[in-house]
Amino acid sequence: MTAQPFVVVAGVGPGTGASVARRFAKAYPVVLLARGADKFENLAKEINDQGGKAIGISADVSNAESLTSAFQQIEKAFPGAAAAAAVFNAAGGFVRKPFLELTEKEFTSGWEVSQKGGFLFSQHVLPFLLKHAKDSSAQHPPTLIFTGATAGIKANALMATFASSNFAKRALAASIAKEFAPQGVHVAWANIDGPIDIPGRDDYRKNLPAEQKINPDDIAETYWSLHTQSKRAFTNEIDIRTSLEKW
Ligand SMILES: NC(=O)c1ccc[n+]([C@@H]2O[C@H](COP(=O)([O-])OP(=O)(O)OC[C@H]3O[C@@H](n4cnc5c(N)ncnc54)[C@H](OP(=O)(O)O)[C@@H]3O)[C@@H](O)[C@H]2O)c1
Repeated sequence: MTAQPFVVVAGVGPGTGASVARRFAKAYPVVLLARGADKFENLAKEINDQGGKAIGISADVSNAESLTSAFQQIEKAFPGAAAAAAVFNAAGGFVRKPFLELTEKEFTSGWEVSQKGGFLFSQHVLPFLLKHAKDSSAQHPPTLIFTGATAGIKANALMATFASSNFAKRALAASIAKEFAPQGVHVAWANIDGPIDIPGRDDYRKNLPAEQKINPDDIAETYWSLHTQSKRAFTNEIDIRTSLEKW
């Protein structure tokens, strides 16, 4: 009998990561990755208490050793299993600063997570996705989704770090999509075009009406629909925005 496939979400927090994990947990066991265990402990408990299966692993996507260790733990938890889906949701380098004041460390903090992390995560997870692609009993094509941002298509002043690393993440997704589609893996990049309504986040979002904020549960629903697409109609890039967003 084929082992039940798992889903791995890299970059779990109270926003998109948690919503995606909850949505995919309705169908698959989920693996939650974040550097801080505080980001996934309660969520894993919530999913397990509700009859799903979730495990959390502390991992830094920008560190190869850390990811290798995380995937060893995944193999131990789900022996012989393939991955039905993977979501790269982490981002780094949200620095808003005049360009001439940017330090090298600030600048590289963007690509360390979004570009190098995206590369490392994809290299680790693709063998598991390819395994699922070869499983004739698989319900849907294996899916690798990158969460992007407006900064992946539009570089604004003061945002050189975040924009350039998000452009890189999008290019990485496109290149992987083209290489692996013929092998049955669906890769998509999602432009999250606007502020996400993150539970408990105490920033400028607080004063925005709910209709101007993207509901992370709705992002998760869109990711699920990407996952269920047929090989004859893959969406490789998608924009997600509220009806009030100017674009
Ligand atoms: N928030 C917005 O309004 C917004 C708008 C447009 C696009 N986006 C994009 O949406 C995605 C999710 O954002 P979100 O705000 O909803 O966040 P979230 O899903 O609530 O949390 C993201 C998680 O990523 C983890 N992470 C960060 N760096 C990591 C690393 N090096 N290794 C492993 N995990 C890491 C963080 O936990 P640790 O710190 O514990 O690792 C954080 O909890 C991001 O790609 C972001 O750029 C966000």
